[in-house]
Amino acid sequence: MKKIAVFTSGGDAPGMNACVRAVVRTGLNQGLEVMGIKKGFAGMIDNLFIPLYSNSVSNIIQKGGTILQSARSDEFRTKKGRAIAYKNLSEHGIDGVVAIGGDGTFAGAKVFMEEYNLPFIGVPGTIDNDLFGTDNTIGFDTAINIAMEAIDRIKDTAHAHDRLFFVEVMGRDAGFIALQSGIATGAEAVLVPESKTDIDNLISTLKTNYEKKKSSSIVVVAEGDDAGGAFEIAKEVKSKFDGYEIRITVLGHTQRGGPPTCNDRVLASRLGIAAVQQLLNGEKGVMVGQIHKDIVLTPFKDAIKYHQRINPSLLEIISILS
Ligand code: F6P
Repeated sequence: MKKIAVFTSGGDAPGMNACVRAVVRTGLNQGLEVMGIKKGFAGMIDNLFIPLYSNSVSNIIQKGGTILQSARSDEFRTKKGRAIAYKNLSEHGIDGVVAIGGDGTFAGAKVFMEEYNLPFIGVPGTIDNDLFGTDNTIGFDTAINIAMEAIDRIKDTAHAHDRLFFVEVMGRDAGFIALQSGIATGAEAVLVPESKTDIDNLISTLKTNYEKKKSSSIVVVAEGDDAGGAFEIAKEVKSKFDGYEIRITVLGHTQRGGPPTCNDRVLASRLGIAAVQQLLNGEKGVMVGQIHKDIVLTPFKDAIKYHQRINPSLLEIISILS
C-alpha cells in the first residue's frame, strides 16, 4: 500500500477534523502518500481529490465541522456513480480508503467494495451515537455537552417564570443525546424513539410535580420520538394540562458545531491511527471502534444492521430522580 485517501461523509460531527489529522499524520509516518476527498462520496465522483501533507492538518484538532466538508450523495447510490468514483480513485492511484461517517457511509462503502477491489476502513463519526461496534461515536460527547449547557441555561429561565419547557435535541432515530443530556440536567422526562411515548403518563408526571409545587419542568425530546417533535408533543400536553405556561426550544444544529471536547479529540485521534494501521494490516470492510477502551473491529454489514441499544437502566434514572 502506497497511497491512501480519507473522506468525511453524512452529518458532520465535532472531532472529524481530529480524526482526519490522525489519519494523515499516521499515514505519512508510515511512508504513505495521503489524499483527501472533499464532500464525501459526491467528491469521489466529482474528482475533488487533494493531496494532504502534515501541515495541511495543522491547527485543526480543536475545530468543529470538517475541513474536507461533507455531503449525502444520491449519485453514489447508482452503479454509474460508483463506476466514476472507482475510475477517479484508480487514476489517483489510491490503494485504500478511510471513511469517516455513520451507517449511510458504511452502507455506501460496503456496496462499493462488493463491486470493486479496493479496501475501505470505517471510522464512526456522528453525533447520534447510534452505531453498533463502539461505545461512543466521534462527536457524541461534544453534542451531549452542548445540549447539557443549553438546557442548564433554559432551566434558569424556566425557574424564573414557573414554566414548562420542551427542549428538542437531535437524534432522528436515536435517543442517546436526549437521554444523556436529560439525566445530566435533572429533566422531568426524556422522550426517545427507542421507547413508546405515552403522553398521558407524561402528563401525570408533570401534574404530580406541579402538585408538589415544583416551580418548573424540563422535558427533553429526541427529534425522532414516535409521538412527534417538541412542538407536536407540547401542543398535545397543553390541550390536556394547563398547569404551567409552556415554551419550546429546538437546539438543532448548534449541537453539531463548535470545538470538540477532550474526549472526542482523543477518541478521534485514536480511531484515526487505528484505521490506518488496519489498512496496513490488510483489513477491509470493517469499522474501527472503541469498546471498554479497546480497539474493536466490526464488519460493515453488522455496523449497518445493528444499532447501539439504549440501556434501560438509564431511562429508569429519569423516573427515579425526577
Ligand atoms: O445524523 C446526525 C444528525 O445530526 C441527526 O441527529 C439529524 O437528524 C440529522 O443529522 C440532520 O441532518 P441534516 O444536517 O442533513 O439536516
